[in-house]
Amino acid sequence: MSTLLAVEALESGYGDVQVLWGLDLTVEAGSITCIVGSNGAGKTTFLRTLSGLVKTKSGSVRFAGADVTGVEPDAALAAGIVHVPEGRRLFKGLTVQDNLLLGAYTRHDDGIMSDLEFVYATFPILKERRKQDATTLSGGEQQMCAIGRGIMSRPKLLLIDELSLGLAPKAVDRLSAALVDINAGGITILLVEQDVMTAFDLAATAFVVDMGRVVKFGATADLADDPAIREAYMGL
Ligand SMILES: Nc1ncnc2c1ncn2[C@@H]1O[C@H](COP(=O)(O)OP(=O)(O)OP(=O)(O)O)[C@@H](O)[C@H]1O
Ligand SMILES: [Mg+2]
Repeated sequence: MSTLLAVEALESGYGDVQVLWGLDLTVEAGSITCIVGSNGAGKTTFLRTLSGLVKTKSGSVRFAGADVTGVEPDAALAAGIVHVPEGRRLFKGLTVQDNLLLGAYTRHDDGIMSDLEFVYATFPILKERRKQDATTLSGGEQQMCAIGRGIMSRPKLLLIDELSLGLAPKAVDRLSAALVDINAGGITILLVEQDVMTAFDLAATAFVVDMGRVVKFGATADLADDPAIREAYMGL
């Protein structure tokens, strides 16, 4: 495997509030990798820093062979870093299909319609509901739409913040299965997830973040047996 994303000593935050304090992490091309950690650990801030929404203070980010440290959101997107935000953030007043097509708004290639068909094949319910206001979808369907919109941006790396938040187990299972298919289609996935069981089921490798740093990483199969991880993050 080759490394798609290599983050070294990353520091970032909001004004005077520093959140990331030297975060190191790598993501292998083709993998599903997850980040877990307590509330406020800096997981969302990390994804927002990668996608250019939070200002980088120091450190480096290499992506697909290029230096993307501190780039603006449009440059991160152009490089192939696509962010599915916490809370899904669909546009009210726009249909499901228009929300999906918004993911492709910077594209000028002729693959947009075939990518839309791929999204509809992955999430058939979105095709059925394509003319409905996206914000009237169920929670699980909204997450499908948010992920679909991400796919419409042709990601090399799909960042997903809180896949399972607020969803029933059945919806989470459906989304997890879809992510496996999406990954098999060649998209590397970096997942931030509160539910460590869900994250470890999906991902081969996990990074545990605490107070803006990676405090542990390894194969999810090993971390799932680690007593400290089980106690702190799995409630076991
Ligand atoms: N816009 C902001 N301005 C100032 N501080 C912020 C802002 N957004 C987040 N923070 C702070 O940054 C820290 C990390 O927040 P972040 O959202 O990255 O954590 P998280 O790991 O994603 O937590 P959760 O699991 O609850 O989603 C928190 O202390 C939070 O209060
Ligand atoms: Mg968060």
